[in-house]
Amino acid sequence: MAISSRPLTPSGFGLELRCSELSKLGKEDLNAVLDDFHEAGGLLLVRNQQQISHRQLVDFVGIFGQVELNEKYNPAFLEPSYPELLRIGNTKQNGEYTALFIKADPPPLMWHTDDSFRHPQPAGSCLFCVHTPPEGAATGFAGMHASYEALPEKTRHDIDEMEAIHSYDYLNELLRIKSPHRPPLSEELKQQIPPIVRPLVAQHPVSKKKGLYLPVCHIMSILGLAEEEARPLLNELQRHMTQPSFTHMHNWQPGDLVIWDNRSALHAPTPFDDDKHKRLMYRLTFGGEQIVGF
Ligand SMILES: [Fe+2]
Repeated sequence: MAISSRPLTPSGFGLELRCSELSKLGKEDLNAVLDDFHEAGGLLLVRNQQQISHRQLVDFVGIFGQVELNEKYNPAFLEPSYPELLRIGNTKQNGEYTALFIKADPPPLMWHTDDSFRHPQPAGSCLFCVHTPPEGAATGFAGMHASYEALPEKTRHDIDEMEAIHSYDYLNELLRIKSPHRPPLSEELKQQIPPIVRPLVAQHPVSKKKGLYLPVCHIMSILGLAEEEARPLLNELQRHMTQPSFTHMHNWQPGDLVIWDNRSALHAPTPFDDDKHKRLMYRLTFGGEQIVGF
């Protein structure tokens, strides 16, 4: 089957694969897709996959890593017989949500890599678009490798050995500023998920490339740096990383399938008018080797 691809950003971060039916790809093509995915910094888009079955979706995501079973989520949000498929969105039946609804805040965007404050973190995720609102609900993606490689050598040298403390409690308190009804973390949860030290520049376990491991909204502090120094540095690095050259803002269409690697890409949700419009996505997550050193 004819397949082709194009980069999604000027820096080469992200790849759109043009392929009429993913399920028809043979083993050799799939291996090439996986190599290209890592080479492009861990972001892959395939459009027009409306016909893909749940089984085929799970099998395709399985080439990137072991697909997870969403045990911690409400079973009412999972597709019947496919616990790998978590419904995300604002769909309801009899007044009850049938999908996990996470309301995105308006800008500034919350750039992050999923669960960096836990170990192990999910290696990556897939979102498949079923329904999307006519406006809003775009998802941003930013490439860790391309943005790191474009930094001046002195900056790379200065930050290469830095370590950051990632904290779920820090994130929660940040979210509470905009959503005061959100409860503080319980003492139990704080103990279950204590702050964790991560490198600021992380090496990917497969590509071995270094990148800016920079979910600023999870980073409580940088070891050995005062807050007055650390926060401007983090904000400046994030500003650098989210320039258009390293960033793809994805405007969804039904049938879009996007896979990203949490070890080499940041992402950020954007809001939509959920009183007026319906959104439904399937999300799959997969496990895998952690960033080097974890
Ligand atoms: Fe996320």
